Amino acid sequence: MLKINKKINPYNKKIQVSGDKSLSIRWVLLASQATGTSKAFNLLMSEDVIASIDSIKKLGIKVKVHKSYCEILGNGINGFKYKKNLTINAKNSGTFGRLILGLLIKSPEKVKIIGDKSLSKRDFSRVTMPLEKFGAKFYYKTKGKLPLSILGSPSTKGIKYLENKGSAQCKSSVMFAALNATGVTSVKAKKSRNHSELLFQYLKIPISIKKNKKYDFIDIKQPKKIKAFNYQIPGDISSSAFFMVLTLLSNNSKLLIKNVNINPSRIGVITILKKMGAKILLKNKRNYRGEKISDILIKSSNNLKAINCPSKLNSSAIDEFLIIFLVAARSRGISYFKNLSELNQKESPRLNWGSKILNMMGVKTVLTKDSIKIYGQPNLKITKKIIIKNYLKDHRVFMMSTIAGLTCGGQWKIHDKDSINTSFPSFLKIIKKIDNKSL
Ligand code: S3P
Repeated sequence: MLKINKKINPYNKKIQVSGDKSLSIRWVLLASQATGTSKAFNLLMSEDVIASIDSIKKLGIKVKVHKSYCEILGNGINGFKYKKNLTINAKNSGTFGRLILGLLIKSPEKVKIIGDKSLSKRDFSRVTMPLEKFGAKFYYKTKGKLPLSILGSPSTKGIKYLENKGSAQCKSSVMFAALNATGVTSVKAKKSRNHSELLFQYLKIPISIKKNKKYDFIDIKQPKKIKAFNYQIPGDISSSAFFMVLTLLSNNSKLLIKNVNINPSRIGVITILKKMGAKILLKNKRNYRGEKISDILIKSSNNLKAINCPSKLNSSAIDEFLIIFLVAARSRGISYFKNLSELNQKESPRLNWGSKILNMMGVKTVLTKDSIKIYGQPNLKITKKIIIKNYLKDHRVFMMSTIAGLTCGGQWKIHDKDSINTSFPSFLKIIKKIDNKSL
């Protein structure tokens, strides 16, 4: 359990957050399908990525984790080798659990996938439905939920697929399946993070992408092989967001976050915070294999205003809404966030949890199934005791609560400290580095 009893002191610091989770998991999966040895530097060593590594090892892929890099000896496309009755454990990782299914559409034996309590509550029919169109079969205890088993088909042909939720996991699961399907797989996908597309382009997998305002039209042809590749994983914007808000809501503070992935499909949090009055500078911008990277400079502000958040920003900020809600709670006016039903499909029902935590802090909200109004209090000072527990160990609930305690006061007891290991094991260490008297 983490106890917080005082606010963080003013600071002027430079930090680096750990590697991007989406890119780390995609690298593990694609390196497993490449021919030869791939290396990744700054790979995120969190439970989601370790679950991905452990699972591909069980699928017959050799992995060597060194101190400063990770090596995967890929066995080619569809090169997994394993015995009957194999079970792999995706633990808390929706990304790994959904993307690996795409790589198993030709598996000659059933592979069972299990997950933790949170992942077992989440919807898998969103990926099993398109993967069935390739010919894969699924076996469940409860339809659309883990645990489930997949049995591949020996002949898999490309499909046409409409991805209408703005889910990068659904889009990527089908894109990964396309590596194993003859002919062309055509995906019409509502905008979502595009790391898979950029990696496919970098790896020279035959892919064509056309775009209109709302959708991307992606055609993929089966490649003959994927060359092994090295990759330097940039910092995770979703982890950075907690420190951006820590700084924004603290007094007289300034923070430079080095080497962050600022892929345009991920920086909704920056756009939203700027609209609310935050001063954020992107410095030292550069390109890396299709991704954009920069340092982020942010300063405290005591003049934040409410936002009527345009839904078109939802997908590019999807993992950041909890921490954005905290900013809305400290802004002048009533903020409104809508069309967010996907937020209740995450590691915990996050829209509901966001509202609940703000209410515990004394902030009024109006919650519906897919929207929230937040009545901001720029001078909010909490004096009471707040206990956060039974939140399905959602790492982002833990981190949002920690930042709330460090910036708004009150006496917090936040249970299940180990939940941060899912995405950001060094979260508390970095807070101590910023102010070693705060925790
Ligand atoms: C992810 C996609 C998002 C996001 C998740 C990681 C990915 O989920 O919430 O943390 O790496 O593709 P959806 O695609 O389901 O929205």
